[in-house]
Amino acid sequence: MNLIQQQDKGNWESDTDLLLQLDEWKRLPLLYQLALEELQNKIKLIKSELEQQDGYSPIEHIKVRVKEPKSILSKLKRKGFDLTLENMLDHIHDIAGMRIVCAFVKDIYRLVEHFQQRGDIRVLEVKDYIKYPKSNGYQSLHIILAVPLIQLEGTRYIKVEIQMRTLAMDFWASMEHILFYKYDKQVPAHVHIELKEAAEAAYALDQKMLRIQKEILSDSDHTRSKFVPIDGTRN
Ligand code: GTP
Ligand code: MG
Repeated sequence: MNLIQQQDKGNWESDTDLLLQLDEWKRLPLLYQLALEELQNKIKLIKSELEQQDGYSPIEHIKVRVKEPKSILSKLKRKGFDLTLENMLDHIHDIAGMRIVCAFVKDIYRLVEHFQQRGDIRVLEVKDYIKYPKSNGYQSLHIILAVPLIQLEGTRYIKVEIQMRTLAMDFWASMEHILFYKYDKQVPAHVHIELKEAAEAAYALDQKMLRIQKEILSDSDHTRSKFVPIDGTRN
């Protein structure tokens, strides 16, 4: 029974049930927001450690958002579920969403490995569209995490979807969104091919930047090894 049907029933028992459900609907955005903040704090610490270790920031930027109720309801409808709280909790995994844009592909895999190893969050699902891009060329690595929130009545796990991409992949995805947002027609074949080629170009750019980074690092190692201070000790 969905919320509207329950409203129509009108007996005391279903009214109480309905009020409880409405309370929960009102509380949920805050819980998702807090889960995102918890996760952001954990990531801030990792980011500063990685910066110190590697001498550059592997995380370029992070964006978070909580999905609007309107979008949640239309996603439930699109997926063919009744508009109930239970369906929303069970089937909509991206109510809390985070996007982490990294410098290199290797940074993305390092972060995922880290999430999988730590004991305070659970990785529920990994979708690797970097290794297996979508047919239009879309590349990103999506994970769904369960983030614990300690409440008076106990620990509650809140789902958060993280999309991880490089700067080049983010450029492609943002442009694709601008070009095709609300364009629900079939994309003409030649446009489909061009879009895919653009995604491949973004991937090639990532690889080129990685090669440049390797070269610069080996060059600076080389320069350093040539440098011998006056007292004879090496730097
Ligand atoms: P949902 O139930 O909508 O999550 O379907 P799904 O689980 O099959 O989708 P998936 O998790 O693969 O992707 C969901 C999100 O990834 C979208 O909301 C977008 O933010 C992003 N995404 C996926 N495919 C594309 C794409 O082709 N282009 C762009 N720009 N973004 C995409
Ligand atoms: Mg999804």
